[in-house]
Amino acid sequence: MSPLRTLTRLSCPDLLSVQDLSPAEVEGILDLAGLVKSRPEEFRSALAGRHLVLIFEKPSLRTRVTFEVGMADLGGRALFIDQTHAPLGGREKLCDIARNLERWVDGIVLRTFTHQTVSEMAAHAAIPVINGLSDREHPCQALGDYFTLQERFTDLRRVKLAFVGDGNNVCHSLLLTAALLGSHIAVATPPGYEPAREIVAAAADAATRTGAHLELTHDWQAAVTGADAVYTDVWASMGQESEAEQRRAVFAPYQVNEGLMARAAPHAVFLHCLPAHRGEEVTDAVIDSPQSGVYDQAENRLHVQKAILLLLLGNGQRRTARLRGARG
Ligand code: CP
Ligand code: NVA
Repeated sequence: MSPLRTLTRLSCPDLLSVQDLSPAEVEGILDLAGLVKSRPEEFRSALAGRHLVLIFEKPSLRTRVTFEVGMADLGGRALFIDQTHAPLGGREKLCDIARNLERWVDGIVLRTFTHQTVSEMAAHAAIPVINGLSDREHPCQALGDYFTLQERFTDLRRVKLAFVGDGNNVCHSLLLTAALLGSHIAVATPPGYEPAREIVAAAADAATRTGAHLELTHDWQAAVTGADAVYTDVWASMGQESEAEQRRAVFAPYQVNEGLMARAAPHAVFLHCLPAHRGEEVTDAVIDSPQSGVYDQAENRLHVQKAILLLLLGNGQRRTARLRGARG
């Protein structure tokens, strides 16, 4: 049976990490995203009366707009709290923020400096919490990216993605998603910038069950050779601005340029979560080339997040049940 018929909710009430999902749930999200993308009219009032709050400690274009447009398309509403002036928890404790928000809205999207903030909010809130990027992970991004790869290549088990650059939040979520989908991912970083050990261990554990092929290397040529997709991200993530200059020197050999792309398969797509620092991790010639899929990726954030919202917020019973359970 198609996962579309079986997947109506997710087993975990929150999406803080790709690790919150099972392989079947990842496949189900991608399937539902395809349906939402091809038949948007069928979902126009799916979240009527539901409210989503976005609280962002860091800037955003794609995540904010796609969640706001996504809620509107599904008949619900989104409201945005700009938290870029100070980290959450300074004015009042996270537990109090959570216990207020759950009385008014049906879900929370957080973009934070520390992943701990996302986890703590989820621990206190009786409504779903979605990680819209933390220092550790960017699950919505990776799910959108694998949806983009599935559109291009159909069978993700036969896709090799080469991630070249920093072993950062986006890299972590891509590794975990590849592992759950039984796909092939090769990550090439400079020494000292590898993905976190616990993420690699979790991905390796999943890979033993799904047959995924995970490679970690410092050799970008080895990673890129024969790749169907080449992915990079900024060398200094939000919050690491003070390291930017030093990182530029370390990462320079890992720039995705035409020479690097020539090592990948001739049909390879170039991917980047964006925003890009053109001339640093990627050249204009690559990001503006016909091989570039970066705007497809950006579009697909919308469709995949609508699927996530349907699965997490689409069940009115959950909120009541959790509130009752949590508060006795
Ligand atoms: N890729 C991504 O999350 O973009 P924003 O930082 O603009 O949301
Ligand atoms: N790694 C980047 C991703 C931006 C979407 C950052 O955290 O700034």
